[in-house]
Amino acid sequence: MNDFTEQVKPLIADVPGWLTDEEGEALYELARACTGTGVIVEIGSWKGKSTICLGRGSLAGSSVPIYAVDPHADYRFGDFKANVDRAGITELVNPIASLSQPAADDFEEPIELLFVDGSHEYDLVLEDFEKWVPKVVDGGWVAFHDTTWTAGPRKVVGHAVYRSTKFKDVRFVVGSTTVARKVEQNTLADRARNRYVLGVKTAFWLGSTAVKKQRHLLPKQVERLGRRLLRAIQ
Ligand SMILES: C[S@@+](CC[C@H](N)C(=O)[O-])C[C@H]1O[C@@H](n2cnc3c(N)ncnc32)[C@H](O)[C@@H]1O
Repeated sequence: MNDFTEQVKPLIADVPGWLTDEEGEALYELARACTGTGVIVEIGSWKGKSTICLGRGSLAGSSVPIYAVDPHADYRFGDFKANVDRAGITELVNPIASLSQPAADDFEEPIELLFVDGSHEYDLVLEDFEKWVPKVVDGGWVAFHDTTWTAGPRKVVGHAVYRSTKFKDVRFVVGSTTVARKVEQNTLADRARNRYVLGVKTAFWLGSTAVKKQRHLLPKQVERLGRRLLRAIQ
């Protein structure tokens, strides 16, 4: 059993949210690898599931601070705070109670890891991309949730990440997260690989949609096969 499975999964088991275990673990590992060249920013916290994965990863690494940007509506801020407290990461987490688009104007710290899971409207995701990604340091990482079945984020990462000259090491994490490393300029080989991963993601999206339509649900065996295939071919 690895650290994520042993220590973090029990902490998020009862926290509502949409992350798969693979996505939670990917956020944990990305945060753990942060060295402090910039901070960690999360856009869209809900009740803190992804915040906990990022926070526990950071705690296991260099304790890089996390800024959790969300309107943090009163009716659920109590749950967010209780979940973050219970995970032992209160000191690391700085909630910013705001929409992410105006919050970007006042945010001046360099960012080493940016996780975007706020609004899913195309125009607002694009605005998040345009306002927040320039603050990510070269060599830093971005992760976008909901880039398969949800049109807004899928379209933004399609052109601004997978087809861009500014990202390498693009990866698709089951079920819907795109992860990529920001660079000054990627190479032809990087671009070919990014396009290949886009093909893998599109195949996963169309395949899972077809199965869902036919069977109403993605059956466990198909889901397991999909996961295994993705691990083998990415
Ligand atoms: C899908 S939930 C986030 C889930 C969370 N990342 C998790 O793993 O549990 C989306 C969140 O984005 C927030 N949100 C919606 N529009 C936003 C915006 N424009 N700026 C910042 N947060 C936004 C909502 O308040 C909600 O908490």
